Amino acid sequence: MSKDVADQKREAYLRVRNVTKKFGSFTALRDISLDVYEGEFVCFLGPSGCGKTTLLRAIAGLDIQTHGSVFQGGRDISGLPASERDFGIVFQSYALFPNLTVNENVGYGLVNIRSSKAEIAAKVAELLELVGLPEQGDKYPSQLSGGQQQRVALARALAMSPGLLLLDEPLSALDAKVRVHLRHEMKELQRRLGVTTVMVTHDQEEALTMADRIVVMKDGVIEQVGTPEEIYRNPASAFVAEFVGTMNFLNASKANDEQILLGENLLNLDEAERQKLNGSPILACVRPEDIQVRNIDDATENAFMTTVKDLEFLGSFCRATLCYGDEGSNINADFSINLVRDRNIIPGAKIRVAIPANSLHIFPADTAK
Ligand SMILES: Nc1ncnc2c1ncn2[C@@H]1O[C@H](COP(=O)(O)OP(=O)(O)OP(=O)(O)O)[C@@H](O)[C@H]1O
Ligand SMILES: [Mg+2]
Repeated sequence: MSKDVADQKREAYLRVRNVTKKFGSFTALRDISLDVYEGEFVCFLGPSGCGKTTLLRAIAGLDIQTHGSVFQGGRDISGLPASERDFGIVFQSYALFPNLTVNENVGYGLVNIRSSKAEIAAKVAELLELVGLPEQGDKYPSQLSGGQQQRVALARALAMSPGLLLLDEPLSALDAKVRVHLRHEMKELQRRLGVTTVMVTHDQEEALTMADRIVVMKDGVIEQVGTPEEIYRNPASAFVAEFVGTMNFLNASKANDEQILLGENLLNLDEAERQKLNGSPILACVRPEDIQVRNIDDATENAFMTTVKDLEFLGSFCRATLCYGDEGSNINADFSINLVRDRNIIPGAKIRVAIPANSLHIFPADTAK
């Protein structure tokens, strides 16, 4: 049985059902339903204002939904205040108590459950070890770097061994290098502890590298739920295609039930895409890295001639602008530096390229990106 099928058979650890959240007359979340399985790492991904934080806060009980229900571990927690729910949370801003030491910050929740001093000290030491900050316990937050403060916040969130770990953009205030480093550390820690985790981010790279599944949101609704690979390879809408990764959006039209016309070139579609061919004009989508140049001849499927208009050096690869017809009929293609050298790809050169049918997606031309 595949993991997906197995997941469908067992009950989700966190179930969100038909959640709507209104702020006055403004609807921030519209009829959201979602399952998160035990031990999963799920990311809410979407542009600013799409409702990610609002949904996380509804799950935490920090902001109760207007309609709908939330279940955790089979229990209906829809109306419970945050203090009676079982989660740990980390926010974007470190939110540590500045007047308490690292030890006191991490042990804060433990004091409330009347553990003995020795027990608390042992647990705090264990947690600091876990987040890679042993022997920093006597420092104050202001004596730590941003990355170290977020590790303390993570240790504090994990202190009560919560059933659910909620993270709201925990890495976005950090500089790029620390962010990438902590991304791996947090993912590794989550995997080791097996704690069910929901993380909010607007950073697609973060979501793609950390999540088991990504929930792409837009304007208070879910656009798509899937593994990083599904979201990247088979975007369900033009919006998802645009938001995750880089995508060419090309004006095309329906030629027949199996093919589209891109400029004067007939391109074959895969079966799944053919089903979407009901109207015309359409947007044909292909990722720059999926455009092929090696071993292409007249018999290659979806091959056509292009002229190199421009070449942009981007470090490890080049992005070429290729013209396949009239002025403005341009497509971006990413080529390795070696390929550019071997094939003498320079502005003005004519090259034959191909778009494999399984890399070609179509959407109605009037869909919002
Ligand atoms: N307390 C509030 N009162 C009124 N409107 C709110 C409130 N909280 C959020 N909103 C609105 O709800 C929408 C969703 O906000 P939310 O904070 O969930 O977005 P987000 O996806 O987390 O964005 P960001 O990436 O900028 O953090 C926004 O339009 C926001 O202005
Ligand atoms: Mg937010």
